[in-house]
Amino acid sequence: MKLQKMRLEDINQVSKLYQEANQFTTVKNIHNWTIEGLNKFPQLNFVIEDGQKIIGAISAILKNKKGAVINDIAVLREYQSKHVGSRLMERLLKELKRQEVKNPNHSRAVRHSLRTAIGDFYSQKWDIKLRSRAAEYKTHFSGIEKITLWVHWKNSRAIPFYYRSGFKMKRVSQTQNIPGVPDGEDIIHLEREL
Ligand SMILES: CC(C)(COP(=O)(O)OP(=O)(O)OC[C@H]1O[C@@H](n2cnc3c(N)ncnc32)[C@H](O)[C@@H]1OP(=O)(O)O)[C@@H](O)C(=O)NCCC(=O)NCCS
Repeated sequence: MKLQKMRLEDINQVSKLYQEANQFTTVKNIHNWTIEGLNKFPQLNFVIEDGQKIIGAISAILKNKKGAVINDIAVLREYQSKHVGSRLMERLLKELKRQEVKNPNHSRAVRHSLRTAIGDFYSQKWDIKLRSRAAEYKTHFSGIEKITLWVHWKNSRAIPFYYRSGFKMKRVSQTQNIPGVPDGEDIIHLEREL
């Protein structure tokens, strides 16, 4: 099984995988926020593959200079409880702990997949966009102090998994203005220091 950075061409498979774990919204909504996160923070998205098949993925974003948020993590049902989720989490934490990005061209893989996906004409524009995002990311990517995430009450059996990765429950609130998710559903917020 191979753990690697998520590429643009992984997005469809990954969105379906995330939706199976998070059935409160649609694949389209998940696709939209995952692609936005991948463009903006390519270092914070990973997949694990078994052959050609993506069996697990994790996606995080930086909310501000000090805090990261895990938007989604999921492992295919038949691969659950085999440490795939823990490997993804460890890899993300390692990335967040790095104090600086040494290579500002880190989004080369994403830019390469864009080139193949949409052709040279558009890719030039995207190249510039992604390079400037990489620079923006570099500025933000230092001194992260905490990581947060939330779990819908229906997914609360995942909480022990997060505890093993050092997260603790902080508070309960209700969903509000999350694309496709009904308002007023209880969610549990977890947090850990980096
Ligand atoms: C939660 C999840 C990402 C963990 O990944 P994983 O590879 O199964 O986790 P690991 O093997 O590293 O750790 C195992 C622990 O994860 C948790 N876990 C395992 N299967 C789970 C499931 N179907 N749902 C929720 N948590 C699960 C348990 O605490 C388990 O510990 P145990 O094996 O002692 O019972 C994965 O199980 C999953 O995608 N679950 C379904 C969707 C979900 O709940 N996602 C989280 C939404 S916030």
